[in-house]
Amino acid sequence: MTQNTDHSSNPADKPWGGRFTESTDAFVEAFTASIPFDKRLYKHDIQGSRAHAQMLGKAGLLSPQDVDAILSGLAVIESEIEAGHMEWKVSLEDIHMHVESRLTDRIGMAGKRLHTGRSRNDQVATDIRLWLREQIDGLAHELTRLQSALVELAAREAATILPGFTHLQVAQPITFGHHMLAWFEMLQRDYERLQDCRKRLNVMPLGAAALAGTTYPIDRNYTASLLGFDYPARNSLDAVSDRDFAIEFLSVASLIMMHLSRFSEELILWTSAQFDFVRLPDRFCTGSSIMPQKKNPDVPELVRGKSGRVFGHLIALLTLMKGQTLAYNKDNQEDKEPLFDTVDTLFGCLRAFADMMPHIQPKPEKMRRAALQGFSTATDLADYLVRKGLPFRDAHEVVGKAVGLGVKTERDLSAMTLAELQSFSPVIEEDVFAVLTLEGSVAARDHLGGTAPNQVRQQVEFARQLLAAR
Ligand code: ARG
Repeated sequence: MTQNTDHSSNPADKPWGGRFTESTDAFVEAFTASIPFDKRLYKHDIQGSRAHAQMLGKAGLLSPQDVDAILSGLAVIESEIEAGHMEWKVSLEDIHMHVESRLTDRIGMAGKRLHTGRSRNDQVATDIRLWLREQIDGLAHELTRLQSALVELAAREAATILPGFTHLQVAQPITFGHHMLAWFEMLQRDYERLQDCRKRLNVMPLGAAALAGTTYPIDRNYTASLLGFDYPARNSLDAVSDRDFAIEFLSVASLIMMHLSRFSEELILWTSAQFDFVRLPDRFCTGSSIMPQKKNPDVPELVRGKSGRVFGHLIALLTLMKGQTLAYNKDNQEDKEPLFDTVDTLFGCLRAFADMMPHIQPKPEKMRRAALQGFSTATDLADYLVRKGLPFRDAHEVVGKAVGLGVKTERDLSAMTLAELQSFSPVIEEDVFAVLTLEGSVAARDHLGGTAPNQVRQQVEFARQLLAAR
């Protein structure tokens, strides 16, 4: 008889080994196993098993003694895993089989009865939802921390002036508080999207079994209430095969990363010698091994860079799902690593930003100087002329000529004499200088959504209330 050493384990060792005569190829066993990564779901797998056992007991499908044995066995397994004492083996494929096999080792027959009326297909779908729900709550907390930091920064810098840009060319003066609250608004939408995703995710697949449901008189509403799900999934085929919730989460995650990446880009520009608008604390930066003068904005750069992998994961999961027929397919095992990496990346980036933001130091004189270059109050002069009776198009033309003189003589509009300005339009009077100042310009935009310090303070109050209501 020849011994094939490629054949690792005896088919009789597998929970599904009954119909097999040949053992699994060792490479195939390792290739198809998910335990190296899905062990991360152990807590939620045990949580699901606990609820399933309780439900089986309530429905009279397991004896009270069996339920007790299962519950205490699961508790021991949970602490064994936590203590690092579980031996992980690719021959046991995944977390579901590890928990079940360890349970049977400990408590015997009762352990084998736990799988009544369920399948790994509804089990894994349940585990990921439970896990992701918990992660979403943690991420929402980090998002809130970052939003609070932005609001408090906006409150402190409500009247600090910097140039606002369009096309990265100086456009009009704005307030730093207003700029920070723009970031707050983006993150507020992200927060709402996260909550919305959580709502759709919170539906229980358990009870769908392999794909068609089960012949046992199970009580799915009871299991759902034990696990904190809003209700059991209404269609078993959909329940085991749906990964929309994961894709939806990845799309929310992608939007968050896109926002953080844009934000990073601004911080990188703003800390450059050419802008020099803000200072990042040293502990969020690193130096260069060759250029002694360097202080690099590594944290924002890395966050900008990490956006790429999250966008990639979104595309990976969309592609994973697009060709799958109903119901469960092994392809679905590939949903976990992108999801895990996205959650880890998001936690890291949000934490870095939330920790850094309260310590950003704006440089008001530098920003002010920049706002005085580039004729940022040109629109204010045009609006002034309109108030004096000129049609806007003519006013635009007049200001354009004044800017032309400014470019030629390298002076801002506010640095011109009254006589010079009057040479462009006789309606200009001494009161023009009030509108040409940066303070006058921002204070004049005093309506809902405008950049005036007064509006920023009102929006700060509104934002504080939103955060306090969470
Ligand atoms: N490890 C599997 C996964 O992640 C669990 C479900 C396995 N189901 C099956 N029929 N092979 O999707």
